Amino acid sequence: MIEVENISITLSGREVVSNLSFQARPGQLTAIIGPNGSGKTTTMKAISGERKFGGAIRFNGRDLTSMSSKQLALSRAVLAQSISLGFPFLVREVLEMGIVAGDTHDAEQAERAMAKALEAVDLKGFETRVATRLSGGEQARLHMARVLCQIPEAVGRDQPHWLLLDEPVASLDIRHQLAIMRLARDFAARGGGVIAVMHDLNLTAMFADHVVMLKAGRLHGAGAPADVFTEQALEAVYGCRLSVSREPESGLLRIVTPLAA
Ligand SMILES: Nc1ncnc2c1ncn2[C@@H]1O[C@H](COP(=O)(O)OP(=O)(O)OP(=O)(O)O)[C@@H](O)[C@H]1O
Ligand SMILES: [Mg+2]
Repeated sequence: MIEVENISITLSGREVVSNLSFQARPGQLTAIIGPNGSGKTTTMKAISGERKFGGAIRFNGRDLTSMSSKQLALSRAVLAQSISLGFPFLVREVLEMGIVAGDTHDAEQAERAMAKALEAVDLKGFETRVATRLSGGEQARLHMARVLCQIPEAVGRDQPHWLLLDEPVASLDIRHQLAIMRLARDFAARGGGVIAVMHDLNLTAMFADHVVMLKAGRLHGAGAPADVFTEQALEAVYGCRLSVSREPESGLLRIVTPLAA
């Protein structure tokens, strides 16, 4: 379990996350949602161990601040919101960064992990392409593959592993959005934990087990999508009217802007 307990984060003299508490459970996909600037990335950076915070974060029962960077790298992989490689690495070299950060030492096993990760993100055969010359969505999928190379197993040494994904589907076409969300959900189904920052409320309703909704750095609701996504709460958080209904056959939540938006 990841326990975020009363964390506050101040950047450039401004408190951007305030007294935030929530829990993310292994076996579940936890989505963090909220408007631009509401503190989602800042919270993810704190959980990733990249940002100082007041309060406490426990990672599988351990105080996050007591864990070494190697221990962190073996228990969670991070997909950042924006990644610039700054050097024309080959796709294969980007994947090797994930392998080196993770726990795969055997060369054959590493080859298998890289091939499997590329296939999972629909980039089979891209090994020798220059990563910076891939399209935006292809690059995003490559970084997802790197994450999978770092943490290929959902559980290890009796502890759940974690994927911390900041907007994993933001630049993807609809088929690849579904593929990546399924991949995240399957990781959770195998006993791992996933925290994903999301903007698409319908995809969130479809895939998330638990939703943490932020507004201006504060918690504005947490629970199952159906409990969090009420018209009232969404209007209060996003400042626009949305209509929430259920698909008659599947029971899936549908969140749409009213026609006269
Ligand atoms: N390094 C920084 N220094 C100062 N302020 C920052 C810094 N990083 C983020 N902020 C501010 O903190 C607030 C929260 O930013 P954050 O990146 O967490 O938002 P977000 O919820 O991820 O938004 P988005 O949906 O646009 O990605 C914003 O007001 C942002 O301007
Ligand atoms: Mg962000």
